[in-house]
Amino acid sequence: MEDQPLRATPDDLASVNLADPQTFADYDLSDYWRTLRATRPLYRHPAVGDSPGFWVLSRYADIVALYRDNTTFTSERGNVLITLLGDGDSAAGRMVPVTDGQRHKELRNVLLKAFSPRVLSRVGEHVRRTTRTLLAAAIDRGAGDFALDVASKIPMATICDLLGVPSQDRDYLLSLTKSAISSDDQGEYAEAADAARNNILQYFLGMVEERRAAPRDDVVSVLAGSTIDGEFLSEDEIVLNCYSLILGGDATSRLAMIDAVHSFAANPDQWASFKRGDVSVKSATEEVLRWASPTMHFGRTALEDVEIHGTRIPKGDVVTVWNVSANRDERVFADPDRFLVDRSPNKHIAFGHGPHFCIGAYLARLEISEMLLALRDFTAGFEIVGPVQRIYSNLLTGISSLPVQFEPASAELEELVL
Ligand code: HEM
Repeated sequence: MEDQPLRATPDDLASVNLADPQTFADYDLSDYWRTLRATRPLYRHPAVGDSPGFWVLSRYADIVALYRDNTTFTSERGNVLITLLGDGDSAAGRMVPVTDGQRHKELRNVLLKAFSPRVLSRVGEHVRRTTRTLLAAAIDRGAGDFALDVASKIPMATICDLLGVPSQDRDYLLSLTKSAISSDDQGEYAEAADAARNNILQYFLGMVEERRAAPRDDVVSVLAGSTIDGEFLSEDEIVLNCYSLILGGDATSRLAMIDAVHSFAANPDQWASFKRGDVSVKSATEEVLRWASPTMHFGRTALEDVEIHGTRIPKGDVVTVWNVSANRDERVFADPDRFLVDRSPNKHIAFGHGPHFCIGAYLARLEISEMLLALRDFTAGFEIVGPVQRIYSNLLTGISSLPVQFEPASAELEELVL
């Protein structure tokens, strides 16, 4: 079944409002990004109503340069449009993505320790088993919503495993997370989102106290037991960074997995060559990440006057960088608008770049590649059999509902040992 087609971008660039989630629900912005890359590599997005104007970078090279530079630009006044155009980020200076300078390095090192290969090797086997069990069950049922039945159950469970959240609390935490990130939805949800966020922080506060008393082999214990210059992290720092792991690691990986199934269904030749084993799982995973680019944008605030493409950006202005555009930049990628699982080289920037490069990249790659492996082993093929629903957001892009009919590769299923 065909997706509901999105409308072509209007000719008038200024009529496209990148701050409005509805824009992404209505339009296919491919032409808009192509035009900006070609003719307006630094574009001044107009103010709309109460929402102030901001700068937009669309070319790969400019975006990489900005990601690298956390001296001229800061993340401490927010790193996504919703906070950058609002009142900033109240977690600035305490939560890794919105902290810069020395404290960022120190906190990031603590988080990296919590995500060390030793810790991740423990979850690897679990991700593999969960993925294969869920996919085998979905294939057994024949048809279902891949987003809901399979993809939604993997990243959150993995992060909960890492953090050490006991299984009886996971549904509670999942429901809170859903409310907390629905603030992009129309206004009435904003209050519920705030309350949910507070409840999540409260929940982790309880865990911190428990782990301080009796440490275990989990990320909360690592954070609670870590010191910087002999001082323990504050409770705020610990709970905000737990929250950041949930926010950063759930929807993004989930959307990439869903996009993989959608893109393979839309490109049967690519599925056939992947299924035959002509293409490595690693290469296919990277193309899924480039193609899906689940986080469309990030942003920074200029700490001093700076010039880009001959234009002066005054201190205090917001500059946004659009990964969705960089990952289709014809200056870097041959045939950028084709999903080609053997693409090489493939230096996409789905995980950002530089000092704030995604901490969960290894884990996300693991989750996506386990899903691709399971699809290859267990299915002969699949098709989309119902209306595809896209998420409503100006930050994330992807699919929230994907009705799929699977054709089993029965021999492999019978061999499955759960
Ligand atoms: C940072 C994307 C998965 C945790 C980032 C950034 C991007 C990104 C673009 C840079 C943000 C910036 O520069 O302001 C993604 C994508 C993912 C993914 C596309 C999946 C496909 C994960 C996972 C986790 C995670 C699984 C954790 C469990 C983080 C954290 C940061 C971050 C903590 C902040 C790093 C810092 O500021 O130093 N991510 N991410 N992400 N991500 Fe991810």
